[in-house]
Amino acid sequence: MSSEEGLSSTITDWLFINSWWLLLPFIMLLVVAAFIVAFVLLLYMISPLISPKPLKLNGAHVVVTGGSSGIGKSIAVECYKQGAFITLVARDEAKLLQAKKEVEKFAINDKQVVLCISVDVSSDYSQVESVIKQAQEKLGPVDMLVNCAGLAISGKFEDVEVDRFKSERRLNSQKLMEVNYLGSVYPTRAVITTMKERRMGRIMFVSSQAGQIGLFGYTAYSPSKFALRGLAESLQMEIKPYNIYVTVAYPPDTETPGLAEENKTKPLETKLISETSGVCQPDQVAKIIVRDAVQGNFNSSVGPDGYMLSALTCGMSPVTSITEGLQQIVTMGLFRTIALFYLGSFDSIVRRCMIQREQSKAADKRE
Ligand SMILES: *[C@@H]1O[C@H](CO)[C@@H](O)[C@H](O)[C@H]1NC(C)=O
Ligand SMILES: *[C@@H]1O[C@H](CO)[C@@H](O)[C@H](O)[C@H]1NC(C)=O
Repeated sequence: MSSEEGLSSTITDWLFINSWWLLLPFIMLLVVAAFIVAFVLLLYMISPLISPKPLKLNGAHVVVTGGSSGIGKSIAVECYKQGAFITLVARDEAKLLQAKKEVEKFAINDKQVVLCISVDVSSDYSQVESVIKQAQEKLGPVDMLVNCAGLAISGKFEDVEVDRFKSERRLNSQKLMEVNYLGSVYPTRAVITTMKERRMGRIMFVSSQAGQIGLFGYTAYSPSKFALRGLAESLQMEIKPYNIYVTVAYPPDTETPGLAEENKTKPLETKLISETSGVCQPDQVAKIIVRDAVQGNFNSSVGPDGYMLSALTCGMSPVTSITEGLQQIVTMGLFRTIALFYLGSFDSIVRRCMIQREQSKAADKRE
């Protein structure tokens, strides 16, 4: 054997041993693929366990807080159209009676009833408990609770009265954490024991897209809507074994009296930013929310923006169907990329408005 041959065979050996390493990425890919396949199979195996049975609205008792106007009233109509008995809860008696008349137009049988209860769901728990008791005595145990009482204010952080973050003693004042958060805690607390005993029920929290993303002008509003998500996730884990399902709805800007009120103080930045996603009709929003609550979906969103926000913010929230879980896994990275562009454009809106304000201030001074 010449020394040349010896050298080339050493090189071949060397290549052979080392080409092993070249295969490593492929082996790793195979392992990852095997894991994904196993994971999907596992999800399929447990899917019958995680998909709840739809609730029958026909003959069910649905309580809607904030039911005298806006999305709440539309949800009541939607449920009434499907044969439910409705309890409308709100503060203003005159508005309640008006809403009752509107809802009653959509009866599908002559047994259906709309009950009105005038109470502030956010101020005193014992009061809320006693009105829920009254409603249950008249129309039977609550099958679905819709927590829709809420209000929105917007304004720059330093412009929002400090009291408004929590509450004000004045009557009819705007108290965000109390109305939007405690106003959902109290009614839920009042129905939960009976629901657990009956091992059935649906609880719906109406949050907002501002409960998924904090935007300019919502330093008081967003936290009160984010709070609902924490409540919903914790509660769902507690009551799932009792066959009770929680839905959190994240509607976009919706054409309601609440929005008209909010429009009055909306800063220019907030207007420009919310214009990127448009305004919805309450009926359209209510249809989607009711469908999701009936199916027991944890998340309910409207439109493509809503879809993207829900996928982006699903975090550790419960999953209600196999397709939902897979969609979340597949879309998250892509949606984050798109979200970065949105964030960039929002930041530039805010900066542009600041520069314009400063320029007009300077111009005023010169005059
Ligand atoms: C609120 O303002 C938006 C524009 O920012 C407008 O599209 C919408 O119709 C207004 N809604 C109400 C109820 O005033
Ligand atoms: C959220 O709910 C909507 C329907 O309301 C659904 O189309 C969407 O897939 C859900 N998104 C996620 C991420 O679960």
